[in-house]
Amino acid sequence: MDYKKIVAERIKQLVDLDIETIENLIEIPPRPEMGEFAFPCFQLAKTMKKAPNMIANDLKGKIENEGFEKIECFGPYLNFFLDKGVFIKNTVEKILEEGESYGSSKIGEGKNMIVEYSSPNIAKPFHVGHLFTTVIGNSLYKILSFEGYNCTGINHLGDWGTQFGKLIYAYKNWVDEDALEKEPINELLRIYVKFHEEADLDPTLNDEAKMYFRKLEDGCVDEVKLWTKFRDLSLVEFKKLYKTLNVEFDSYAGESFYCDKMDDIIKDIDSKGLLVDSNGAKVVMLDEYNIPPCIIKKSDGATIYATRDLAAATYRKKTYDFHKNIYVVGKDQALHFKQVFTTLKLMGNEWADDCVHVPFGTVRFADKKLSTRKGDVIFLDELLDQAVAKTLEVINEKNPELENKEDVAKKVGIGAIVFTYLKNHRERDIVFNWEEMLSFDGETGPYVQYTYARAKSILRKVGENSNKPETNEIRTNVEPDYNKLNSKEEFELVKQLEGFQSAIMAAIDKLEPSMVTRYVIEVAKAFNKFYNQHNISNLEDESNKKAKIKMVESTCQVIKNALNLIGIEVVDRM
Ligand code: ARG
Repeated sequence: MDYKKIVAERIKQLVDLDIETIENLIEIPPRPEMGEFAFPCFQLAKTMKKAPNMIANDLKGKIENEGFEKIECFGPYLNFFLDKGVFIKNTVEKILEEGESYGSSKIGEGKNMIVEYSSPNIAKPFHVGHLFTTVIGNSLYKILSFEGYNCTGINHLGDWGTQFGKLIYAYKNWVDEDALEKEPINELLRIYVKFHEEADLDPTLNDEAKMYFRKLEDGCVDEVKLWTKFRDLSLVEFKKLYKTLNVEFDSYAGESFYCDKMDDIIKDIDSKGLLVDSNGAKVVMLDEYNIPPCIIKKSDGATIYATRDLAAATYRKKTYDFHKNIYVVGKDQALHFKQVFTTLKLMGNEWADDCVHVPFGTVRFADKKLSTRKGDVIFLDELLDQAVAKTLEVINEKNPELENKEDVAKKVGIGAIVFTYLKNHRERDIVFNWEEMLSFDGETGPYVQYTYARAKSILRKVGENSNKPETNEIRTNVEPDYNKLNSKEEFELVKQLEGFQSAIMAAIDKLEPSMVTRYVIEVAKAFNKFYNQHNISNLEDESNKKAKIKMVESTCQVIKNALNLIGIEVVDRM
Protein backbone atom coordinates (compact mmCIF):
# COMPACT_ATOMS: atom_id res chain seq x y z
CA MET A 1 0.00 0.00 0.00
CA ASP A 2 1.40 3.36 -0.96
CA TYR A 3 0.46 5.61 1.94
CA LYS A 4 1.95 8.70 0.41
CA LYS A 5 -0.29 8.21 -2.57
CA ILE A 6 -3.32 7.84 -0.32
CA VAL A 7 -2.42 11.07 1.45
CA ALA A 8 -1.97 12.82 -1.89
CA GLU A 9 -5.31 11.58 -3.16
CA ARG A 10 -7.13 12.80 -0.08
CA ILE A 11 -5.59 16.24 -0.51
CA LYS A 12 -6.33 16.27 -4.21
CA GLN A 13 -10.05 16.08 -3.52
CA LEU A 14 -9.84 19.44 -1.77
CA VAL A 15 -7.33 21.51 -3.67
CA ASP A 16 -6.59 22.62 -7.19
CA LEU A 17 -3.21 20.96 -7.72
CA ASP A 18 -2.35 17.89 -9.74
CA ILE A 19 -1.51 14.67 -7.97
CA GLU A 20 2.18 14.72 -8.90
CA THR A 21 2.68 18.23 -7.56
CA ILE A 22 1.02 17.19 -4.32
CA GLU A 23 3.16 14.07 -4.04
CA ASN A 24 6.30 16.10 -4.60
CA LEU A 25 5.27 18.60 -1.94
CA ILE A 26 4.60 15.98 0.71
CA GLU A 27 7.38 15.78 3.28
CA ILE A 28 8.42 13.31 5.95
CA PRO A 29 8.27 15.21 9.27
CA PRO A 30 11.56 15.46 11.15
CA ARG A 31 10.26 13.77 14.32
CA PRO A 32 7.94 10.79 14.86
CA GLU A 33 5.75 12.89 17.23
CA MET A 34 4.79 14.92 14.17
CA GLY A 35 3.30 12.02 12.27
CA GLU A 36 4.36 10.26 9.11
CA PHE A 37 3.55 12.76 6.37
CA ALA A 38 3.27 16.50 6.20
CA PHE A 39 1.75 18.67 3.50
CA PRO A 40 3.00 22.28 3.37
CA CYS A 41 0.37 24.82 2.34
CA PHE A 42 2.65 27.64 1.16
CA GLN A 43 2.14 26.98 -2.51
CA LEU A 44 -1.63 27.10 -2.14
CA ALA A 45 -1.43 30.46 -0.39
CA LYS A 46 -0.77 32.25 -3.68
CA THR A 47 -3.76 30.89 -5.59
CA MET A 48 -6.13 30.76 -2.64
CA LYS A 49 -5.05 34.18 -1.38
CA LYS A 50 -5.09 33.04 2.20
CA ALA A 51 -2.48 32.51 4.87
CA PRO A 52 -0.97 29.01 4.76
CA ASN A 53 -1.88 28.41 8.42
CA MET A 54 -5.51 29.09 7.64
CA ILE A 55 -5.46 26.83 4.62
CA ALA A 56 -3.99 24.01 6.69
CA ASN A 57 -6.74 24.52 9.24
CA ASP A 58 -9.48 24.54 6.59
CA LEU A 59 -8.15 21.36 5.02
CA LYS A 60 -8.05 19.71 8.41
CA GLY A 61 -11.75 20.39 8.86
CA LYS A 62 -12.70 18.92 5.51
CA ILE A 63 -10.33 16.04 4.91
CA GLU A 64 -11.44 12.42 4.95
CA ASN A 65 -9.52 10.78 7.82
CA GLU A 66 -10.40 7.14 7.58
CA GLY A 67 -7.35 4.90 8.01
CA PHE A 68 -5.50 7.60 9.92
CA GLU A 69 -5.17 7.89 13.66
CA LYS A 70 -5.49 11.64 13.28
CA ILE A 71 -4.76 14.55 10.96
CA GLU A 72 -3.41 17.67 12.66
CA CYS A 73 -2.18 21.15 11.81
CA PHE A 74 1.30 22.26 12.66
CA GLY A 75 1.23 25.91 11.62
CA PRO A 76 1.26 25.95 7.81
CA TYR A 77 1.55 22.16 7.61
CA LEU A 78 -1.12 19.50 7.57
CA ASN A 79 0.29 16.42 9.29
CA PHE A 80 -0.93 12.87 8.88
CA PHE A 81 -0.66 10.24 11.59
CA LEU A 82 -1.12 6.71 10.37
CA ASP A 83 -3.43 4.41 12.26
CA LYS A 84 -0.58 2.35 13.61
CA GLY A 85 -2.46 -0.91 14.10
CA VAL A 86 -3.87 -0.84 10.57
CA PHE A 87 -0.55 0.22 9.12
CA ILE A 88 1.35 -2.56 10.88
CA LYS A 89 -1.22 -5.17 9.96
CA ASN A 90 -1.26 -4.17 6.28
CA THR A 91 2.49 -4.05 6.04
CA VAL A 92 3.27 -7.28 7.86
CA GLU A 93 0.58 -9.21 6.02
CA LYS A 94 1.73 -7.89 2.69
CA ILE A 95 5.33 -8.91 3.38
CA LEU A 96 4.39 -12.40 4.51
CA GLU A 97 2.05 -12.89 1.61
CA GLU A 98 4.52 -11.72 -1.02
CA GLY A 99 7.55 -13.40 0.57
CA GLU A 100 10.56 -13.54 -1.73
CA SER A 101 8.96 -11.13 -4.14
CA TYR A 102 8.20 -8.44 -1.53
CA GLY A 103 9.71 -5.23 -2.87
CA SER A 104 9.53 -6.29 -6.50
CA SER A 105 7.40 -4.69 -9.18
CA LYS A 106 6.78 -4.64 -12.88
CA ILE A 107 7.91 -1.08 -13.56
CA GLY A 108 10.66 -2.32 -15.87
CA GLU A 109 8.48 -4.60 -17.92
CA GLY A 110 9.25 -4.48 -21.61
CA LYS A 111 12.52 -2.63 -21.10
CA ASN A 112 15.83 -4.23 -22.01
CA MET A 113 18.79 -3.29 -19.89
CA ILE A 114 22.42 -4.06 -20.55
CA VAL A 115 24.53 -4.20 -17.44
CA GLU A 116 28.19 -4.52 -18.29
CA TYR A 117 30.37 -5.39 -15.31
CA SER A 118 33.54 -7.09 -14.12
CA SER A 119 35.34 -7.12 -17.52
CA PRO A 120 38.81 -8.17 -16.34
CA ASN A 121 41.78 -8.38 -18.66
CA ILE A 122 42.97 -11.72 -19.94
CA ALA A 123 46.40 -12.74 -18.66
CA LYS A 124 46.32 -10.07 -16.00
CA PRO A 125 45.31 -10.41 -12.38
CA PHE A 126 41.75 -9.78 -11.33
CA HIS A 127 42.28 -6.99 -8.83
CA VAL A 128 40.28 -5.19 -6.16
CA GLY A 129 38.99 -2.70 -8.73
CA HIS A 130 37.55 -5.53 -10.81
CA LEU A 131 35.91 -6.84 -7.68
CA PHE A 132 34.31 -3.42 -7.23
CA THR A 133 32.71 -3.45 -10.69
CA THR A 134 31.72 -7.08 -10.20
CA VAL A 135 29.74 -6.48 -7.02
CA ILE A 136 28.15 -3.22 -8.18
CA GLY A 137 27.15 -4.73 -11.53
CA ASN A 138 25.87 -7.91 -9.98
CA SER A 139 23.74 -5.89 -7.59
CA LEU A 140 22.37 -3.56 -10.28
CA TYR A 141 21.52 -6.59 -12.37
CA LYS A 142 19.58 -8.11 -9.49
CA ILE A 143 17.86 -4.88 -8.51
CA LEU A 144 16.75 -4.10 -12.06
CA SER A 145 15.58 -7.66 -12.69
CA PHE A 146 13.63 -7.57 -9.43
CA GLU A 147 11.73 -4.57 -10.75
CA GLY A 148 10.84 -6.30 -13.98
CA TYR A 149 13.56 -5.05 -16.33
CA ASN A 150 14.83 -7.58 -18.81
CA CYS A 151 18.56 -7.56 -18.06
CA THR A 152 21.52 -8.89 -19.98
CA GLY A 153 24.72 -9.10 -17.97
CA ILE A 154 27.80 -8.74 -20.13
CA ASN A 155 31.40 -9.42 -19.18
CA HIS A 156 33.33 -7.29 -21.67
CA LEU A 157 36.59 -9.19 -21.30
CA GLY A 158 39.81 -7.37 -22.11
CA ASP A 159 40.88 -10.09 -24.50
CA TRP A 160 42.19 -8.17 -27.50
CA GLY A 161 44.80 -5.52 -28.20
CA THR A 162 48.48 -4.97 -28.82
CA GLN A 163 49.37 -6.43 -25.43
CA PHE A 164 48.68 -9.86 -26.89
CA GLY A 165 51.50 -9.34 -29.38
CA LYS A 166 53.79 -8.66 -26.43
CA LEU A 167 52.52 -11.69 -24.61
CA ILE A 168 53.07 -13.97 -27.58
CA TYR A 169 56.63 -12.75 -27.88
CA ALA A 170 57.17 -13.20 -24.15
CA TYR A 171 55.65 -16.64 -24.20
CA LYS A 172 57.87 -17.81 -27.04
CA ASN A 173 60.97 -16.61 -25.23
CA TRP A 174 60.52 -16.93 -21.51
CA VAL A 175 57.58 -19.04 -20.40
CA ASP A 176 57.95 -21.65 -17.70
CA GLU A 177 55.35 -24.25 -18.69
CA ASP A 178 55.18 -25.80 -15.22
CA ALA A 179 54.49 -22.47 -13.62
CA LEU A 180 51.93 -21.71 -16.30
CA GLU A 181 50.15 -24.93 -15.46
CA LYS A 182 50.08 -24.22 -11.72
CA GLU A 183 49.45 -20.51 -11.56
CA PRO A 184 48.59 -19.38 -15.07
CA ILE A 185 47.82 -15.76 -14.38
CA ASN A 186 50.92 -15.22 -12.26
CA GLU A 187 53.12 -16.72 -14.90
CA LEU A 188 51.52 -14.72 -17.71
CA LEU A 189 51.92 -11.59 -15.62
CA ARG A 190 55.55 -12.44 -14.93
CA ILE A 191 56.47 -12.78 -18.59
CA TYR A 192 54.44 -9.71 -19.50
CA VAL A 193 56.31 -7.64 -16.93
CA LYS A 194 59.57 -9.10 -18.21
CA PHE A 195 58.66 -8.06 -21.73
CA HIS A 196 58.42 -4.44 -20.62
CA GLU A 197 61.74 -4.62 -18.78
CA GLU A 198 63.47 -6.14 -21.78
CA ALA A 199 61.83 -3.78 -24.25
CA ASP A 200 63.17 -0.85 -22.24
CA LEU A 201 66.66 -2.13 -23.01
CA ASP A 202 65.93 -3.22 -26.57
CA PRO A 203 63.09 -1.30 -28.21
CA THR A 204 63.09 -3.56 -31.27
CA LEU A 205 61.09 -6.02 -29.15
CA ASN A 206 58.14 -3.68 -29.58
CA ASP A 207 58.32 -4.19 -33.33
CA GLU A 208 58.31 -7.94 -32.83
CA ALA A 209 55.25 -7.61 -30.61
CA LYS A 210 53.49 -5.48 -33.21
CA MET A 211 54.26 -8.09 -35.80
CA TYR A 212 52.70 -10.80 -33.65
CA PHE A 213 49.59 -8.78 -32.98
CA ARG A 214 49.25 -8.13 -36.69
CA LYS A 215 49.45 -11.87 -37.28
CA LEU A 216 46.86 -12.44 -34.60
CA GLU A 217 44.54 -9.90 -36.20
CA ASP A 218 45.10 -11.60 -39.55
CA GLY A 219 44.05 -14.91 -38.03
CA CYS A 220 47.37 -16.75 -38.28
CA VAL A 221 46.98 -20.21 -36.80
CA ASP A 222 49.86 -20.27 -34.30
CA GLU A 223 49.13 -16.88 -32.86
CA VAL A 224 45.43 -17.55 -32.57
CA LYS A 225 46.22 -20.83 -30.85
CA LEU A 226 48.39 -19.11 -28.25
CA TRP A 227 45.87 -16.37 -27.71
CA THR A 228 43.15 -18.98 -27.18
CA LYS A 229 45.35 -20.69 -24.64
CA PHE A 230 45.89 -17.47 -22.68
CA ARG A 231 42.20 -16.72 -22.77
CA ASP A 232 41.12 -20.19 -21.68
CA LEU A 233 43.62 -20.32 -18.83
CA SER A 234 42.54 -16.94 -17.55
CA LEU A 235 38.86 -17.70 -17.83
CA VAL A 236 39.23 -20.81 -15.71
CA GLU A 237 40.67 -18.63 -12.96
CA PHE A 238 38.08 -15.89 -13.33
CA LYS A 239 35.23 -18.36 -13.28
CA LYS A 240 36.48 -19.82 -10.01
CA LEU A 241 36.15 -16.38 -8.51
CA TYR A 242 32.71 -15.83 -9.96
CA LYS A 243 31.62 -19.10 -8.47
CA THR A 244 32.90 -18.11 -5.04
CA LEU A 245 31.09 -14.80 -5.36
CA ASN A 246 27.94 -16.32 -6.81
CA VAL A 247 28.09 -14.05 -9.82
CA GLU A 248 26.91 -14.93 -13.30
CA PHE A 249 26.87 -13.41 -16.77
CA ASP A 250 24.61 -13.86 -19.75
CA SER A 251 27.42 -13.11 -22.16
CA TYR A 252 31.20 -13.12 -22.20
CA ALA A 253 31.43 -11.15 -25.43
CA GLY A 254 34.69 -9.30 -24.80
CA GLU A 255 36.82 -7.11 -26.97
CA SER A 256 37.86 -9.92 -29.32
CA PHE A 257 34.22 -10.52 -30.17
CA TYR A 258 34.23 -7.25 -32.09
CA CYS A 259 37.30 -7.93 -34.28
CA ASP A 260 35.20 -8.61 -37.33
CA LYS A 261 32.75 -5.84 -36.57
CA MET A 262 35.14 -2.92 -36.53
CA ASP A 263 35.52 -2.45 -40.26
CA ASP A 264 31.87 -1.59 -40.62
CA ILE A 265 32.07 0.94 -37.84
CA ILE A 266 35.13 2.59 -39.31
CA LYS A 267 33.44 2.77 -42.70
CA ASP A 268 30.36 4.24 -41.11
CA ILE A 269 32.39 6.90 -39.32
CA ASP A 270 34.20 7.68 -42.54
CA SER A 271 31.06 7.89 -44.63
CA LYS A 272 29.73 10.51 -42.24
CA GLY A 273 32.84 12.56 -42.84
CA LEU A 274 34.03 12.24 -39.28
CA LEU A 275 37.29 10.38 -39.82
CA VAL A 276 40.29 12.69 -39.77
CA ASP A 277 43.97 12.01 -40.38
CA SER A 278 46.22 12.97 -37.48
CA ASN A 279 49.92 12.14 -37.79
CA GLY A 280 49.04 8.96 -39.62
CA ALA A 281 46.38 7.93 -37.14
CA LYS A 282 42.65 8.08 -37.84
CA VAL A 283 40.67 10.03 -35.29
CA VAL A 284 37.32 11.70 -34.66
CA MET A 285 37.79 15.31 -33.57
CA LEU A 286 35.86 16.25 -30.45
CA ASP A 287 37.21 19.79 -29.94
CA GLU A 288 33.79 21.37 -29.81
CA TYR A 289 33.02 19.22 -26.78
CA ASN A 290 36.30 20.22 -25.17
CA ILE A 291 37.66 16.70 -25.12
CA PRO A 292 40.61 15.11 -26.92
CA PRO A 293 39.96 13.27 -30.19
CA CYS A 294 38.70 9.70 -30.13
CA ILE A 295 41.36 7.54 -31.77
CA ILE A 296 39.92 4.98 -34.15
CA LYS A 297 43.07 3.56 -35.75
CA LYS A 298 46.63 4.00 -34.69
CA SER A 299 49.29 5.04 -37.18
CA ASP A 300 50.32 1.39 -37.62
CA GLY A 301 46.76 0.57 -38.61
CA ALA A 302 45.90 -1.26 -35.39
CA THR A 303 42.49 -0.68 -33.89
CA ILE A 304 42.21 0.25 -30.25
CA TYR A 305 40.08 -0.12 -27.14
CA ALA A 306 37.77 2.73 -28.19
CA THR A 307 37.17 1.26 -31.64
CA ARG A 308 36.02 -1.94 -30.02
CA ASP A 309 33.73 -0.05 -27.67
CA LEU A 310 32.13 1.74 -30.61
CA ALA A 311 31.53 -1.61 -32.29
CA ALA A 312 30.27 -3.14 -29.03
CA ALA A 313 27.70 -0.41 -28.33
CA THR A 314 26.41 -0.60 -31.90
CA TYR A 315 26.18 -4.37 -31.73
CA ARG A 316 24.35 -4.20 -28.40
CA LYS A 317 21.80 -1.76 -29.74
CA LYS A 318 21.15 -3.98 -32.74
CA THR A 319 21.05 -7.22 -30.77
CA TYR A 320 19.30 -6.22 -27.55
CA ASP A 321 17.54 -2.97 -28.44
CA PHE A 322 18.45 -1.64 -25.03
CA HIS A 323 16.55 0.91 -23.02
CA LYS A 324 19.80 1.66 -21.19
CA ASN A 325 23.31 0.37 -21.81
CA ILE A 326 25.10 0.56 -18.46
CA TYR A 327 28.88 0.37 -18.07
CA VAL A 328 30.11 -0.29 -14.56
CA VAL A 329 33.71 0.83 -14.96
CA GLY A 330 36.12 2.79 -12.73
CA LYS A 331 35.94 6.58 -12.75
CA ASP A 332 39.43 6.78 -14.27
CA GLN A 333 37.80 5.81 -17.58
CA ALA A 334 35.29 8.65 -17.55
CA LEU A 335 37.00 10.45 -20.42
CA HIS A 336 37.14 7.29 -22.52
CA PHE A 337 33.39 6.84 -22.23
CA LYS A 338 32.74 10.49 -22.95
CA GLN A 339 34.74 10.12 -26.16
CA VAL A 340 32.97 6.92 -27.16
CA PHE A 341 29.45 8.18 -26.40
CA THR A 342 30.08 11.52 -28.10
CA THR A 343 31.42 9.79 -31.20
CA LEU A 344 28.36 7.54 -31.32
CA LYS A 345 26.14 10.60 -31.09
CA LEU A 346 28.05 12.41 -33.82
CA MET A 347 27.50 9.36 -36.00
CA GLY A 348 23.80 10.12 -35.71
CA ASN A 349 22.84 7.52 -33.12
CA GLU A 350 20.20 9.07 -30.88
CA TRP A 351 20.52 6.07 -28.57
CA ALA A 352 24.01 7.23 -27.60
CA ASP A 353 22.17 9.16 -24.88
CA ASP A 354 21.03 5.84 -23.39
CA CYS A 355 24.60 4.71 -22.80
CA VAL A 356 25.53 5.33 -19.18
CA HIS A 357 28.89 5.15 -17.50
CA VAL A 358 28.45 4.12 -13.87
CA PRO A 359 31.79 5.00 -12.27
CA PHE A 360 33.19 3.97 -8.92
CA GLY A 361 36.10 4.94 -6.72
CA THR A 362 39.41 3.36 -5.86
CA VAL A 363 40.24 0.83 -3.17
CA ARG A 364 43.07 0.90 -0.68
CA PHE A 365 44.02 -1.10 2.33
CA ALA A 366 44.56 0.28 5.78
CA ASP A 367 46.50 -2.86 6.58
CA LYS A 368 49.33 -2.70 4.08
CA LYS A 369 50.49 -6.26 4.68
CA LEU A 370 47.84 -7.51 2.39
CA SER A 371 49.14 -5.71 -0.63
CA THR A 372 52.73 -6.80 -0.59
CA ARG A 373 52.90 -10.25 -2.12
CA LYS A 374 53.72 -8.83 -5.48
CA GLY A 375 54.23 -5.13 -5.83
CA ASP A 376 51.02 -3.32 -5.17
CA VAL A 377 48.74 -5.83 -6.82
CA ILE A 378 46.26 -7.22 -4.38
CA PHE A 379 45.40 -10.78 -5.17
CA LEU A 380 41.78 -11.41 -4.88
CA ASP A 381 41.84 -15.05 -3.99
CA GLU A 382 44.02 -14.09 -1.04
CA LEU A 383 41.64 -11.35 -0.04
CA LEU A 384 38.64 -13.66 -0.09
CA ASP A 385 40.49 -16.51 1.65
CA GLN A 386 41.57 -14.17 4.41
CA ALA A 387 38.07 -12.85 4.92
CA VAL A 388 36.76 -16.39 5.31
CA ALA A 389 39.61 -17.47 7.60
CA LYS A 390 39.24 -14.43 9.83
CA THR A 391 35.49 -14.93 10.07
CA LEU A 392 36.04 -18.53 11.04
CA GLU A 393 38.26 -17.34 13.88
CA VAL A 394 35.50 -15.08 15.14
CA ILE A 395 32.96 -17.90 14.95
CA ASN A 396 35.27 -20.29 16.76
CA GLU A 397 35.51 -17.78 19.52
CA LYS A 398 31.84 -16.80 19.73
CA ASN A 399 30.02 -19.96 18.79
CA PRO A 400 32.38 -22.96 18.68
CA GLU A 401 29.50 -25.46 18.64
CA LEU A 402 28.01 -24.10 15.41
CA GLU A 403 27.28 -26.62 12.67
CA ASN A 404 28.54 -25.98 9.10
CA LYS A 405 31.04 -23.49 10.40
CA GLU A 406 32.97 -23.39 7.13
CA ASP A 407 29.90 -22.67 5.08
CA VAL A 408 28.78 -19.93 7.45
CA ALA A 409 32.27 -18.41 7.49
CA LYS A 410 32.26 -18.35 3.71
CA LYS A 411 28.93 -16.58 3.44
CA VAL A 412 29.71 -14.12 6.20
CA GLY A 413 33.35 -13.48 5.24
CA ILE A 414 32.65 -12.88 1.58
CA GLY A 415 29.48 -11.03 2.49
CA ALA A 416 31.59 -8.71 4.62
CA ILE A 417 33.73 -7.75 1.65
CA VAL A 418 30.80 -7.30 -0.70
CA PHE A 419 29.05 -5.20 1.94
CA THR A 420 32.10 -2.97 2.36
CA TYR A 421 32.10 -2.26 -1.35
CA LEU A 422 28.40 -1.46 -1.47
CA LYS A 423 28.02 0.42 1.77
CA ASN A 424 28.86 3.93 0.59
CA HIS A 425 28.20 6.00 -2.47
CA ARG A 426 30.08 4.14 -5.18
CA GLU A 427 32.23 7.07 -6.20
CA ARG A 428 33.70 7.35 -2.76
CA ASP A 429 37.12 5.73 -2.36
CA ILE A 430 37.27 2.76 -0.04
CA VAL A 431 39.86 1.97 2.59
CA PHE A 432 39.62 -1.67 3.58
CA ASN A 433 40.11 -2.34 7.23
CA TRP A 434 39.78 -5.92 8.40
CA GLU A 435 38.76 -5.19 11.93
CA GLU A 436 36.08 -2.78 10.88
CA MET A 437 34.59 -4.81 8.07
CA LEU A 438 34.41 -8.09 9.98
CA SER A 439 33.03 -6.60 13.17
CA PHE A 440 29.67 -7.90 14.35
CA ASP A 441 28.58 -4.46 15.31
CA GLY A 442 28.76 -1.25 13.41
CA GLU A 443 27.51 -0.88 9.87
CA THR A 444 28.87 -4.13 8.49
CA GLY A 445 27.79 -7.22 6.61
CA PRO A 446 28.30 -9.47 9.64
CA TYR A 447 26.16 -7.11 11.74
CA VAL A 448 23.23 -7.42 9.35
CA GLN A 449 23.68 -11.16 8.91
CA TYR A 450 23.93 -11.56 12.67
CA THR A 451 20.71 -9.59 13.10
CA TYR A 452 19.02 -11.97 10.70
CA ALA A 453 20.33 -15.03 12.54
CA ARG A 454 19.21 -13.51 15.84
CA ALA A 455 15.69 -12.96 14.51
CA LYS A 456 15.65 -16.51 13.21
CA SER A 457 16.67 -17.78 16.61
CA ILE A 458 13.67 -16.04 18.19
CA LEU A 459 11.43 -17.78 15.70
CA ARG A 460 13.06 -21.12 16.47
CA LYS A 461 12.56 -20.56 20.16
CA VAL A 462 8.87 -19.79 19.94
CA GLY A 463 8.48 -22.60 17.45
CA GLU A 464 9.98 -25.02 19.92
CA ASN A 465 7.68 -23.83 22.67
CA SER A 466 4.69 -24.29 20.46
CA ASN A 467 5.46 -27.98 20.29
CA LYS A 468 4.26 -28.21 23.85
CA PRO A 469 0.65 -29.27 23.38
CA GLU A 470 -0.83 -26.80 25.87
CA THR A 471 0.67 -23.67 24.22
CA ASN A 472 0.20 -25.03 20.76
CA GLU A 473 -3.51 -25.34 21.42
CA ILE A 474 -3.80 -21.67 22.27
CA ARG A 475 -1.51 -20.44 19.60
CA THR A 476 -3.17 -22.08 16.63
CA ASN A 477 -6.50 -20.59 17.53
CA VAL A 478 -5.34 -17.15 18.38
CA GLU A 479 -5.26 -14.33 15.84
CA PRO A 480 -2.44 -11.79 15.90
CA ASP A 481 -3.58 -8.45 17.28
CA TYR A 482 -1.49 -5.80 15.60
CA ASN A 483 -2.98 -3.04 17.73
CA LYS A 484 -0.88 -4.45 20.53
CA LEU A 485 2.32 -3.60 18.72
CA ASN A 486 1.96 -0.13 20.13
CA SER A 487 5.53 0.66 21.18
CA LYS A 488 7.69 3.19 19.44
CA GLU A 489 10.23 0.49 18.52
CA GLU A 490 7.64 -1.67 16.82
CA PHE A 491 6.13 1.14 14.80
CA GLU A 492 9.56 2.38 13.72
CA LEU A 493 10.61 -1.11 12.66
CA VAL A 494 7.51 -1.68 10.58
CA LYS A 495 7.89 1.76 9.03
CA GLN A 496 11.34 0.69 7.91
CA LEU A 497 10.01 -2.57 6.49
CA GLU A 498 7.41 -0.64 4.57
CA GLY A 499 10.09 1.53 2.95
CA PHE A 500 11.84 -1.29 1.08
CA GLN A 501 10.38 -0.51 -2.30
CA SER A 502 11.18 3.18 -2.15
CA ALA A 503 14.78 2.33 -1.21
CA ILE A 504 14.97 0.13 -4.30
CA MET A 505 13.48 2.88 -6.47
CA ALA A 506 16.09 5.32 -5.19
CA ALA A 507 18.78 2.75 -6.00
CA ILE A 508 17.51 2.44 -9.56
CA ASP A 509 17.14 6.17 -9.98
CA LYS A 510 20.78 6.76 -9.08
CA LEU A 511 22.10 3.36 -10.22
CA GLU A 512 23.41 3.14 -6.71
CA PRO A 513 23.22 -0.20 -4.85
CA SER A 514 24.32 1.53 -1.65
CA MET A 515 20.76 2.83 -1.27
CA VAL A 516 19.73 -0.77 -0.62
CA THR A 517 22.72 -1.42 1.65
CA ARG A 518 21.98 1.68 3.73
CA TYR A 519 18.40 0.60 3.89
CA VAL A 520 19.13 -2.86 5.22
CA ILE A 521 21.43 -1.36 7.85
CA GLU A 522 18.51 0.78 9.05
CA VAL A 523 16.23 -2.24 9.17
CA ALA A 524 18.81 -4.13 11.25
CA LYS A 525 19.20 -1.18 13.61
CA ALA A 526 15.45 -0.82 14.04
CA PHE A 527 15.12 -4.55 14.68
CA ASN A 528 17.85 -4.52 17.33
CA LYS A 529 16.19 -1.62 19.10
CA PHE A 530 13.02 -3.66 19.25
CA TYR A 531 14.93 -6.78 20.30
CA ASN A 532 16.64 -4.98 23.17
CA GLN A 533 13.34 -3.65 24.55
CA HIS A 534 10.91 -6.50 24.09
CA ASN A 535 10.89 -10.15 24.98
CA ILE A 536 8.67 -12.42 22.96
CA SER A 537 9.09 -15.91 24.30
CA ASN A 538 7.81 -15.26 27.80
CA LEU A 539 4.88 -13.03 26.78
CA GLU A 540 1.61 -14.22 28.29
CA ASP A 541 -0.71 -12.43 25.90
CA GLU A 542 -0.98 -14.80 22.95
CA SER A 543 -2.49 -12.39 20.44
CA ASN A 544 0.25 -9.87 21.16
CA LYS A 545 2.90 -12.57 20.99
CA LYS A 546 1.58 -13.81 17.68
CA ALA A 547 1.64 -10.32 16.19
CA LYS A 548 5.24 -9.87 17.33
CA ILE A 549 6.22 -13.21 15.81
CA LYS A 550 4.70 -12.18 12.50
CA MET A 551 6.60 -8.93 12.63
CA VAL A 552 9.87 -10.76 13.30
CA GLU A 553 9.14 -13.14 10.44
CA SER A 554 8.54 -10.25 8.10
CA THR A 555 11.77 -8.59 9.28
CA CYS A 556 13.65 -11.76 8.31
CA GLN A 557 12.00 -11.74 4.92
CA VAL A 558 12.91 -8.14 4.22
CA ILE A 559 16.53 -8.55 5.33
CA LYS A 560 16.84 -11.64 3.18
CA ASN A 561 15.33 -9.95 0.12
CA ALA A 562 17.49 -6.87 0.56
CA LEU A 563 20.74 -8.76 1.09
CA ASN A 564 19.93 -10.87 -1.90
CA LEU A 565 19.73 -7.72 -4.02
CA ILE A 566 23.27 -6.79 -3.04
CA GLY A 567 24.55 -10.31 -3.63
CA ILE A 568 24.84 -11.53 -0.03
CA GLU A 569 23.37 -14.72 1.34
CA VAL A 570 21.80 -15.00 4.77
CA VAL A 571 22.66 -17.67 7.35
CA ASP A 572 20.14 -18.98 9.86
CA ARG A 573 22.69 -19.38 12.62
CA MET A 574 26.06 -17.83 13.26
N1 ARG B 1 39.01 -4.37 -19.31
C1 ARG B 1 38.92 -3.04 -18.83
C2 ARG B 1 39.78 -2.86 -17.59
O1 ARG B 1 40.08 -3.80 -16.93
C3 ARG B 1 37.53 -2.64 -18.48
C4 ARG B 1 36.54 -2.73 -19.62
C5 ARG B 1 35.44 -1.75 -19.45
N2 ARG B 1 34.40 -1.86 -20.43
C6 ARG B 1 34.38 -1.29 -21.62
N3 ARG B 1 33.33 -1.51 -22.38
N4 ARG B 1 35.35 -0.52 -22.04
O2 ARG B 1 40.13 -1.74 -17.27
